[in-house]
Amino acid sequence: MNKLSEYTKFAIDIAKKAGLIQMSYFGNITEIKKKSNHIDILTEADTQSETLILDKISQKYPSHSIITEESNNILKDSEYKWIIDPLDGTTNFTHNLPIFAVSIALLKNDKVILGVVYNPAADKCFYAEINKGSYLNNKKIHTSSSTTLSDTLLATGFPYLHDDRYDLSFKLFKEFYDKTRGIRRLGAAALDLCFVAMGRFDGFYEFELNSWDIAAGSLIVKEAGGLVTDWDGKEVPLNGKRILASNKKIHKEMINILTKNKYKIFY
Ligand code: IPD
Ligand code: CA
Ligand code: CA
Repeated sequence: MNKLSEYTKFAIDIAKKAGLIQMSYFGNITEIKKKSNHIDILTEADTQSETLILDKISQKYPSHSIITEESNNILKDSEYKWIIDPLDGTTNFTHNLPIFAVSIALLKNDKVILGVVYNPAADKCFYAEINKGSYLNNKKIHTSSSTTLSDTLLATGFPYLHDDRYDLSFKLFKEFYDKTRGIRRLGAAALDLCFVAMGRFDGFYEFELNSWDIAAGSLIVKEAGGLVTDWDGKEVPLNGKRILASNKKIHKEMINILTKNKYKIFY
């Protein structure tokens, strides 16, 4: 294993501390708050996890900017910016499904330089530093070797807003389902990306995500040998508007489906 930077050690440490908070609430949720609608929810664990992470970053790196899901952005005149999802997979968490994570990314001049995704229920810590490979609990991980879509298992997800694109996304889902071994909808985008990085999934696509869902996981996929782009193969929008992540080898086949005329509404 490469010697980790001070930032990565710090990010792993706070992700694990936030994970401990999540586990103290897991199975004991007493209050669920609604955000934009009845499926967009927030628990005390999201808030407490975020408070811990914000406090730790602000204490150690007071000059850095921080973007985080549940609070106002802290914008400073700094080349460093942290992007945080304090609890990715809140719906799973609320239903006692152990597929949820803390996601922490650090950007330098708008480029992701490190990503940590910690799934506390399984004590699995995924992390990557730029140009240094990706790791799961200190072991190097790699994307899968499948070269054709018909041999693959994919992952995807659906947004909270149920509009025209949401309806059409089920056609897209069927199209991929027909051409692969299947698709899973696990409900935690940061982990979907890590599962592409470790070769469990061969590819992942989703739309209407946010920067905190994809920033850390995208670097973990790339550093594990995969490719992360927009649906048409261009640079991935870091705001999460659309994302396509794969083992590189099936990327073109996935792009061919995602760029069909009937799916132009997604762009
Ligand atoms: C959600 C998860 C889910 C994705 C949603 C996200 P949250 O994050 O990543 O997989 O489909 O769009 O919002 O709300 O649990 O942090
Ligand atoms: Ca999320
Ligand atoms: Ca979240």
